[in-house]
Amino acid sequence: MNASAASGAPTHRVVRVFPDARATAQAAAELFVARAADAQARRGVFHVALSGGSTPRLFHAMLAASPLRDQVDWSRIQVFWGDERCVPPDHPDSNYLMARETLLDAVPIPPERIHRMRGEEDPASAASAYEDELRAVFATAPGETPRFDLIYTGMGPDGHTLSLFPHTAALSVTDRLVVANYVPQLNASRITFTTTLANHAALVAFVVTGADKAPALAQVLEGPRDPRRYPSQLIAPAGELLFLLDQLAAAQLTHIA
Ligand code: 6PG
Repeated sequence: MNASAASGAPTHRVVRVFPDARATAQAAAELFVARAADAQARRGVFHVALSGGSTPRLFHAMLAASPLRDQVDWSRIQVFWGDERCVPPDHPDSNYLMARETLLDAVPIPPERIHRMRGEEDPASAASAYEDELRAVFATAPGETPRFDLIYTGMGPDGHTLSLFPHTAALSVTDRLVVANYVPQLNASRITFTTTLANHAALVAFVVTGADKAPALAQVLEGPRDPRRYPSQLIAPAGELLFLLDQLAAAQLTHIA
């Protein structure tokens, strides 16, 4: 975790508010195009982690269609997920299935560059295997943390992000990149990036829409620091932190900083 995150001081945070969910999704999709081109120009490959839940459906669909689809070099992208439910890849709750149906089946990414979390396996084993796969794909040295060009994430009405839910064990894990996290609120386990991995990213982009997110978002962005209750406060990347919001989700913010 970087110094600012450890100290609780905000990193370089940008909050952009759009009129509605569609405009927010357009911004999220255009961000993908821009960051992919930048990463591919600099290092020849774009490392991105997709978010789960339902919010990404809209911007995935925009990315999967012209003109944005045609502006991406899909052959030089490594795709990961920031978290996954502990279900098979064909289960309706699978974040992998959602991304496949809304984006990946419509674009020419080589299958070996799509790295899904194996939700059908034992959570701890799947988390450990995913961490190994991450390290292999990024070719990081022992002890080095992979740096994503872009991690997309969402936020629940309870202030969780990735599968870092309030008062759960994964919130305090700093010596791993990916862990299994039992979530009593769901009576289920999840597989999730830790803050160590997320906070090493060049950019973490929250995409948050809808009135049901407004109370938690106001607490996360403007309330007292209480990261065990509002885990989204733990996300303070070494690079940039971006919130892409619609007006409904931003309705209780008093200032946009
Ligand atoms: C998940 C997500 C989770 C999600 C939020 C928001 O697996 O559920 O990763 O963190 O981003 O719960 O979900 P919605 O987009 O459905 O509101």
